[in-house]
Amino acid sequence: MKILGIETSCDETAAAIVEDGNRVLANVIASQIDIHRETGGVVPEVAAREHVIKIMPVVNEALRKAKTGWADIDAIAVTVGPGLLSSLVIGVSTASALAFAKQKPLIAVNHIAGHIYANWLERETKESPLFPCVVLTVSGGHNELVFMKKHAEFKLLGETLDDAAGEAFDKVARLLGLAYPGGPEISRLALKGDIKRFDFPKAYLQDKSYDFSFSGLKTAALNLIREEFEQSGKLSQQFIADCCAGFQDAVCGILSDKLLRAAEEYQVQEVLLSGGVSANGRLRQIIQEKIDEGYFFNAKGKKNQLTIHPRFRFPQDKSFCTDNAAMIAGMAYFLAKSHPTQAFVKKPIIADPRLSLYNASEMVSRS
Ligand code: KG4
Ligand code: ZN
Repeated sequence: MKILGIETSCDETAAAIVEDGNRVLANVIASQIDIHRETGGVVPEVAAREHVIKIMPVVNEALRKAKTGWADIDAIAVTVGPGLLSSLVIGVSTASALAFAKQKPLIAVNHIAGHIYANWLERETKESPLFPCVVLTVSGGHNELVFMKKHAEFKLLGETLDDAAGEAFDKVARLLGLAYPGGPEISRLALKGDIKRFDFPKAYLQDKSYDFSFSGLKTAALNLIREEFEQSGKLSQQFIADCCAGFQDAVCGILSDKLLRAAEEYQVQEVLLSGGVSANGRLRQIIQEKIDEGYFFNAKGKKNQLTIHPRFRFPQDKSFCTDNAAMIAGMAYFLAKSHPTQAFVKKPIIADPRLSLYNASEMVSRS
């Protein structure tokens, strides 16, 4: 089954063609990073205007790269939310118009579910993630910890109470005078920094909570940077690198501990990472180390033993970590396979900027 995926939830105009949920025949992304770098972040109206210009060339490029004609496309999948409304609307209206004109079934995909399914891309079926699993989706807009027993059924264990981890990376990077997006910059500079120089606070919240909070960490970074500026009048390269290393380690510590506590509680076979921040090398390294050594820290800072040794996976390619349309087409395939009666849209779809992760079995009312 060949699905054309369309993704325009934020600042990437993307189209992809994916066969059977894993074989990526084309994955085209028109990035707006250079435009948004000038403003230090995404201006929604600017992003929407760019989507309008890029969307059809990107779709046509995907078809060309996949050497596929419209006759070979079995369905069209599109991100319906969450994201920026003005950006989502461009993808949803383009996909709806194409589905009508080309007489193709339409599948509405939740962006967060799409990120999760990036883990199935370019993996042979026998290598696909196993259930039960826990997934940590961390990006600029979302920060969710999810338990899955089967396809397209998500139990939300926790989410962020304030900023998403990627957003915290971007904001701290901005305070340090680094380029947008800040995550890759921080992880690059952290390699030259001393993790131990600054002690960043880690908010674990209550013992049982799987929610996240990064505002305290962000304020600690702000105070540290302000102090340094007041004392020295500038930020030295070493200060910036040490600050990046300490901040990154604090974020990765919280994320990895909550992920592995959930893995232990739900006795999973697999631990998955997805979203833009899953490209972070240090985060991947910390999770793998804790799994191999069999521990995680609880809210009181006490070392707990892992009684399981789950397999740890993240998207095969870095381009599948950040926003892309292959993950949307991939998710649509598994949605259609596992919930054929709910997957296909029967009424016009409406972009929903605040859409939360929903279970496919509860989708009847949406179609
Ligand atoms: O998934 P994504 O492309 O967009 C959203 O859905 O938000 O994620 C973008 C986010 C940005 O905040 C970016 O700074 C972060 O992912 N990011 C990283 C890295 N690469 C991208 N954060 C930390 N380390 C990285 N290597
Ligand atoms: Zn995303």
